[in-house]
Amino acid sequence: MNIKVFKDYDEASFYCADLVASTINKNSHPILGLATGSSPLGVYQEIIRRYQKKQLDLANVTTFNLDEYVGLPRTHEQSYNYFMRKNFFDHVNIKEENINLPDGLAEDLQEECRQYSQKLLAMGGTDIQILGIGTKGHIAFNEANSKLQAHCHVEILDQCTVMDNSRFFKCKEDVPLSAITLGMMEIFCSKKIVILAFGRSKAKAIASFNDDQITTEVPVTFMKTHPDATLILDQEAAAELNVV
Ligand code: GLP
Repeated sequence: MNIKVFKDYDEASFYCADLVASTINKNSHPILGLATGSSPLGVYQEIIRRYQKKQLDLANVTTFNLDEYVGLPRTHEQSYNYFMRKNFFDHVNIKEENINLPDGLAEDLQEECRQYSQKLLAMGGTDIQILGIGTKGHIAFNEANSKLQAHCHVEILDQCTVMDNSRFFKCKEDVPLSAITLGMMEIFCSKKIVILAFGRSKAKAIASFNDDQITTEVPVTFMKTHPDATLILDQEAAAELNVV
C-alpha cells in the first residue's frame, strides 16, 4: 500500500489527476472507475482543466461509476448520474455511449446489477479505480458490516451514511435508503486503486491502515491486499496514522 500525505486537497487532487492522466495516456482504450462525493471533485476539475488546455484527450475513455441511489431518476439533482454529468462528463469529450452508471430506476434491480457487473467484467475491469471512503470506511456503498458482498448488488444504507449524505438533500428523510453498488470483487478487479480521503472525519477509518489487518467492519481495509493501491490523504485525514 502506497500512502501519500499532501499539504492540502488541491495538491492531493493534482497528484491523483496525474495518475488518471497517465492511465489515459498509456492505454489505447482506457477504462476509468469513477466515484461521486466531494473527495474526487478536485480530481475531476483538474482533468477538465487539462482537457480544456488540450493536454489530455478523453475521446477513447470508457467510464464505469461505482454506485447509484435506488429510486432517483437520472434528472434528480442528487442522483449520481446527474452529479457525474454536472461535475465531469458535460465538460470533457467522453462519448455518451462509453459512460456507464447503474440505473437506480430499473424495474428489475437484480437484473440491472447482474448486467452492470457482466459488462464491466467482460471489458476486463477498470484500469484505474478512484475511491472515496465513508466515515466508517465504506467503499462505493459496501457498508461496514459483518459480511460484504463480492458482486454488484442492492445495499441497504447504514444510518451513518444516510446522515452523512443528508447534507446534500433538503432533509434526512429525502435520502434514499438503498443503492446499487459494485461489490468488493468488481472494485478489486481494477488494475490500480486510488483511495482519496480528506478531512478529520475520515481520520478514524484511515487509522485502520496502522496495522496489517483486514475487516469487513472497515471495508476499505480489503484494499490492503491489492497489489497496486495508493492512499491519497490530506494532513487531517492522516492525523491518526503512525505509519507515514
Ligand atoms: C458516498 C459514496 C461513496 C463516497 C462517500 C464519501 O457514500 N457512495 O462512494 O466515497 O459518499 O463521500 P465524500 O467524498 O463526499 O466524503
